[in-house]
Amino acid sequence: MATMHHAPFRTRIIGTGGWAPPRVVTNDEMQKLVDTNDEWIVQRTGIKTRRLIDFEGQLGTSEMCEHAARQALDDAGLSAADLELIVVGTVTPDLRLPSCAIMLQDRLKAKNAAAFDVLAACAGSAYALSVVDKFLASGSVKRALVVGAETLTSITNWSDRNTCVLFGDAAGAFVVEAVPRDEGGAGLIDVDIYSDGSTWQHIYIPKGGSLHPLMPGDVEDKQDRLIMNGREVYKFAVRALVEAAKTVLADNGFTIEDVDLVCAHQANLRIIEAISDRTHIPLDKFVINIDRYGNTSSASLPITFDEARRDGRMKPGQLVLMMAIGAGMTWSAGLYRA
Ligand SMILES: CC(C)(COP(=O)(O)OP(=O)(O)OC[C@H]1O[C@@H](n2cnc3c(N)ncnc32)[C@H](O)[C@@H]1OP(=O)(O)O)[C@@H](O)C(=O)NCCC(=O)NCCS
Repeated sequence: MATMHHAPFRTRIIGTGGWAPPRVVTNDEMQKLVDTNDEWIVQRTGIKTRRLIDFEGQLGTSEMCEHAARQALDDAGLSAADLELIVVGTVTPDLRLPSCAIMLQDRLKAKNAAAFDVLAACAGSAYALSVVDKFLASGSVKRALVVGAETLTSITNWSDRNTCVLFGDAAGAFVVEAVPRDEGGAGLIDVDIYSDGSTWQHIYIPKGGSLHPLMPGDVEDKQDRLIMNGREVYKFAVRALVEAAKTVLADNGFTIEDVDLVCAHQANLRIIEAISDRTHIPLDKFVINIDRYGNTSSASLPITFDEARRDGRMKPGQLVLMMAIGAGMTWSAGLYRA
């Protein structure tokens, strides 16, 4: 599903923000939890440190959202009352009910905004951007907040070395505004979203939902924690994102050479390298921060975009390719004119 090219408005990102908890956890510290080592983690994933709240996640996701959202609002020169819509991509809301977006709305006192979550795992912020883009394109919403935030500590199995070394906590935010389509300048050109439900068992949490409510003993058995088939995810991610990137470029009349910058979900440095190899987009065009943050799921895309924008790497007029992929599998590729 793509952007509405003939709609009266398009989406411009007018403010960005990114936040991660201050606690930096090294690979040597992970070695105290599971049978692993710095060399394995760096070689297989590119991760050197990650930022974690605490191993049992004692800070709600909405609090991280608030930090990132306030930065993005400041950057945009807006106040929370200017927002008409808040969409949060997360799989780790503060509570099972209500949504994280509702908690965020309350924190920000964004009283004029409707608020809801989308659940598309690591592609959550890309999905949220796609949803919000439709509201803006139609003219029904003028200004909105898109957040990707994840307290992965709260769903990580800290005794599973296959997964626990990969993840980090963070939140990233975009403040977006509808601008007339014929105005030119910065704006979202397209954002495609995809799903393949036949692959849901590649990443899932066995219990705690309606199918298998948590029973006595399940917490001790880590049934409320994420399980992943890393090898299958790896293969799927490379294949799907290469295809999606080529499609969004071709559909909008661009070639690989037109891409100035890539803000991709940071799941594994090797996945990014493989995408660079297969698309022939040089690796130095990819914004990389997985070494410092690990895989922060739906926060990954917006914090990467925010970092590139703030450090001056993203320059006005550049063509930015955005990519994300997550459990489902769900994935996305988009194009943004900076
Ligand atoms: C998880 C991932 C890093 C594993 O890398 P890999 O090269 O595929 O490694 P494998 O799964 O083949 O495992 C190789 C060996 O390393 C071991 N291993 C796994 N994690 C380890 C760790 N943290 N430290 C040391 N050894 C580890 C495995 O047990 C396996 O040992 P074995 O051969 O004795 O069974 C990689 O598959 C990956 O990044 N997948 C995508 C994950 C992802 O992005 N998920 C989120 C999507 S949004």
